[in-house]
Amino acid sequence: MKENIKELERKKAAAKLGGGEERIKKQHAKGKLTARERLEILLDEGSFQELDMFVEHRAVDFDMDKQKIPGDGVVTGYGKINGKLVYVFSQDFTVFGGSLSETHAEKICKIMDHAVRNGAPLIGLNDSGGARIQEGVVSLGGYAEVFKRNVLSSGVIPQISLVMGPCAGGAVYSPSMTDFIFMVEDSSYMFVTGPDVVKTVTHEEVTAEELGGASTHSEKSGVADLTFENDRDALLITREFMSYLPQSNQEYPETIECNDSIDREESALDTLVPQDPSKPYDIKEVIHKVADDGDFFELQPKYAQNIVTGFIRLNGSSIGVVANQPLVLAGCLDINSSIKAARFVRFCDAFNIPILTLVDVPGFMPGTSQEYGGIIKHGAKLLFAYAEATVPKVTLITRKAYGGAYDVMSSKHIGGDINFAWPSAEIAVMGAKGAVEIIFRQDIGDEKKIEKRTQEYTEKFANPFIAAGRGYIDDVIMPNNSRKKLIESFEMLKNKQQENPWRKHDNIPL
Ligand code: HXC
Repeated sequence: MKENIKELERKKAAAKLGGGEERIKKQHAKGKLTARERLEILLDEGSFQELDMFVEHRAVDFDMDKQKIPGDGVVTGYGKINGKLVYVFSQDFTVFGGSLSETHAEKICKIMDHAVRNGAPLIGLNDSGGARIQEGVVSLGGYAEVFKRNVLSSGVIPQISLVMGPCAGGAVYSPSMTDFIFMVEDSSYMFVTGPDVVKTVTHEEVTAEELGGASTHSEKSGVADLTFENDRDALLITREFMSYLPQSNQEYPETIECNDSIDREESALDTLVPQDPSKPYDIKEVIHKVADDGDFFELQPKYAQNIVTGFIRLNGSSIGVVANQPLVLAGCLDINSSIKAARFVRFCDAFNIPILTLVDVPGFMPGTSQEYGGIIKHGAKLLFAYAEATVPKVTLITRKAYGGAYDVMSSKHIGGDINFAWPSAEIAVMGAKGAVEIIFRQDIGDEKKIEKRTQEYTEKFANPFIAAGRGYIDDVIMPNNSRKKLIESFEMLKNKQQENPWRKHDNIPL
C-alpha cells in the first residue's frame, strides 16, 4: 500500500508540474499565470475538485508515445464561486502549448456534460496553440465534439470564455459560441487565420495584436465583451460578474441583501436632460443613479458606444440594462449597436434576468454604409429579441423616442410590461423640424411660417402625453423618483408568466 500511495503522489506531482519548471518560467515571463494558478484565483479557496488528472494522450506518431504528461494539457473539474457551483477547464500552455488532443477534448466534454446535467455554469480558460498537430483529424474531431456541446448548452447554462493566450484557427469557434468572451490585454489573441496566412493571401502586413488582440476585439469587431490588464484582474472580475447570473435557465439569479434605500430620490435627474433637444447628456448617469449603490457592471464598454449594455441590481435583484447613449451618434441605432443589444437581450431572456430599457433614440442611422451593410436585417434583430423576450421588461423614455426606433426599444406594442416616460419625453414619428419640412414643404423659405409650424408640431408631439393618453405609456414619472418606480415595477412583475407559441425554434434574422 505504501508503494501505491507513493506512486499516486508521484503521478500527482507530475501532473501538477505540467510541462515542467522551464516552461512554467516562460509562461510567467510572458506575464501569464499557469493553468492551476488561474483556477486558484477564480475559485473559492480550497473548493476546486479536479477530475481526470491522470488522463494521457494516446498518440504514437512522431515519438509522442515517449512524451506523456498526466492531464494532457488541460486541468478540468468543478469548484465554487461565491459559494455556487461552477464547472471549469483551464488549458495548460506548458504542455504541448495547451494544444487540443483527442483526450484533451474528451476531458473538456466530460465537464461540459456534467455542467448541463447538473445545471451550473461552465467557465473555460483558453490558452492553446490549437489542434494538436501530431494527432491530425482526431484532434479536429475533438474540437467538433466541444463545439456541439457549446451549441446544445447555449441558453441552458451560462458559458463564459476567458481567452488568456493564443486562440487561433477553428479553435476560436468554441469561445465564440459561449455567452461572453473576456480577453487579457497584450497576452491573448483570437483570429481565424494568423498574420502569416493573411500576408500570403491578402498581402496585408499585420501583427497578431492588431489582427486579433484584446483591443481589436473589444473596440473593432465586438467579439470580446470585456478586456483586462492581466490574468489576475480577469479572474477576479469574472468572480464578480458571475454574481449577476443564475446557475441555469431553470433558476433565477440570486437576490442579494440591498442596503441602499429603495425610495432614494435623485434630484440631479430632474435637470439631467438639456432643454435643447440637440444637446447630449450621459445616459450612464441615469443608470448609476437608479442602481443599488450606484454600481453598474458594463459590458462591451468600448464597442458600439451608442448603446450601453450591462447589469445593475435593483433592490438586490439582477437586472439587465439596455440604454441608448445620446453622447455617441446622438444615440442612433445602427448595425453594431443593434447586434450588441440584441444579443444581450437574448442572453437576459434565456436566463431569467429582467430587462430595463432606457430610451433616448432619434431613430436608425441613415446612409449608404448602413443600408449596404444590412441595417434592415440587423436592426430587426433587436426588434425580434425584444418581441420574443418573456422576462419582465420595464421601459423608461427619458427624451426622444422617434420612428421605428420607438417601436424597437421595448415599446408597449412589442411587449413592454411597464412603460414609463419622463415629462421631457418626445414620442413622435420624427423630430419637429424634420417633420415640418416634409408635411409643410410648400412653406420652406418662409422662416416665420416654418418656425410657427415647428412650434405647433413640438407642442403637439414633443411630449409623452399623446402616448400616455392611449395607454402606450403607463405613467409619466418625475425623474427624481425613477429608482423607486423601477423597483416597484420589477417587484410587481416578479412572478410574470408568459409563453410564446410552440415552435422548434424561431428564425431570427441572422
Ligand atoms: C502541438 C504545439 C502546438 C500544436 C504549440 N505547440 N502549438 N504542439 N500542437 N498546435 C508546442 C510547441 O511545439 C512548443 O513545444 C510549445 O507548444 C510552445 O510553443 P512555442 O511555439 O514555443 O510558443 P510561442 O512562441 O509562444 O508560440 C505559440 C504559438 C505557436 C503562436 C501558438 O506555438 C504556434 O504557432 N503553434 C501552432 C499553431 C497552429 O498552427 N495550430 C494549429 C492551428 S489549426 P516545446 O516542446 O518546444 O515547448 C487549428 C484547427 C482547429 O487549430 C480546428 C478546429 C475545427
